[in-house]
Amino acid sequence: MSINSDIETRSGVDWDAESADFDDEPDHGLRDPAVREAWAARVAAWLPRGPSDVLDLGCGTGSLSLLASEQRHRVTGVDLSPRMVDLARAKLAGRDAVFLVGDAAAPPVGEQRFDVVLVRHVLWTLPDPERVLRLWCGLLRPGGRLVLIEGVWGTVSPVGISADRLTGLLAPLVRDVRVERLSDDALLWGREVDDERYAVVAVV
Ligand SMILES: C[S@@+](CC[C@H](N)C(=O)[O-])C[C@H]1O[C@@H](n2cnc3c(N)ncnc32)[C@H](O)[C@@H]1O
Repeated sequence: MSINSDIETRSGVDWDAESADFDDEPDHGLRDPAVREAWAARVAAWLPRGPSDVLDLGCGTGSLSLLASEQRHRVTGVDLSPRMVDLARAKLAGRDAVFLVGDAAAPPVGEQRFDVVLVRHVLWTLPDPERVLRLWCGLLRPGGRLVLIEGVWGTVSPVGISADRLTGLLAPLVRDVRVERLSDDALLWGREVDDERYAVVAVV
């Protein structure tokens, strides 16, 4: 199976094809300074204060990786889509950041361990979230944290993972879980939204 057909099988989306326009969405490209600043403030609050090692899984074009890097964190990004990885490499050129083509459910990072596993809008597409969360916890150093930004989108045929389900899956794996609701902050999305959007910060 080629990498491209593998990408389509897993998420129902051809992410290589989507990559060219991906950053056109306000919360993807963060081109509007107000939207960018809203995400930068959240990322600063979710990540440790000092420079740390951040693993951005399903990093896409690297928008959150760039915010983390600007906040002095060292970033490793992983994405299944080679074109997304190319765009992330270009976006963070010259920075202390490495981008790898690979599966978020089996990241190609060897024995390396991280202070933060950061994942936005990817977990819900993965076939076995319980197994994946356990694996991600195992990639963290003691005291490290998962920062997971997820949601449930749409009303007729909603897709995603609810905060209740995600915190239930995390409860046996971590010491502390905090949910931050993001639906009311229109600046993050570039518009008002009425579906469930949230971040979870879970400390192992
Ligand atoms: C909705 S985008 C989110 C991108 C980025 N996290 C962000 O928030 O800007 C989903 C991304 O996950 C990637 N992806 C989907 N399934 C993946 C998997 N199993 N392993 C790694 N990346 C995956 C896609 O290629 C795409 O770049």
